[in-house]
Amino acid sequence: MKILIERDYDAMSKRAATLVAEQIRLQPDLVLGLATGSTPLGMYRNLIELVRRGDLSFAAVTTFNLDEYLGLAPDHPQSYRTFMEEKLFRHIDIIPVNTRIPQGLPDDIARHCDDYERQIAKHDGIDIQVLGIGRNGHIGFNEPGEEFGKLTHCVTLSDSTRQANARFFSPPEEVPTHAITMGLKSIMNARRVLLLASGADKSEAVRRAVCGDVTEDHPASVLQLHPNCVFVLDDAAAAKL
Ligand code: GLP
Repeated sequence: MKILIERDYDAMSKRAATLVAEQIRLQPDLVLGLATGSTPLGMYRNLIELVRRGDLSFAAVTTFNLDEYLGLAPDHPQSYRTFMEEKLFRHIDIIPVNTRIPQGLPDDIARHCDDYERQIAKHDGIDIQVLGIGRNGHIGFNEPGEEFGKLTHCVTLSDSTRQANARFFSPPEEVPTHAITMGLKSIMNARRVLLLASGADKSEAVRRAVCGDVTEDHPASVLQLHPNCVFVLDDAAAAKL
């Protein structure tokens, strides 16, 4: 595991964007795993700026997002599809059909999860998977206690995760109770993992991920077993290392 520490959120975001952009330039048809949450927003802004300046193209890139709330239509204001369209996709030259996100309203949940994995496999796997981290150590929507061996599947969201995301919903009780997420095995299958974390409230989750026991009680700790994992942190998130 490699740890890169930058002084603040902006520097962390720039560093992460540089790592992704360098790889897309080397491999224009990169398969990129993407995350939602507030943490990667700065990285997305930097990538958009590179595309605007003509320094980067997503024309041949395919993306797979980690997760989506169950029960939300793609055009729901709080769906992760809407989030990704607004924060990244509509500002870059990616081909819309090359942006994959689990569906919030699939006809058959189990079949949709299998299809999602099949799509990833058809693209020969994910080259770089971008991750944030929850305060309880969740990655994607893999909550504490989730088995390391799972591929894309349906999960029940923990109360703490629902509370953390309640700020985006009105009324807050409307936060969905379930989601579809790539599993920890799907994440571990990516050739390279880039975990971003910023701020003091993530420092304990980062410490346990990097220095704690590898345990299903702290999902991000599984990344200690990944052969090519980079944590890009700001000073505050790295404070307990
Ligand atoms: C959500 C997402 C995760 C994300 C986490 C942290 O639960 N499903 O992928 O990492 O939030 O979000 P933030 O970056 O806003 O702290």
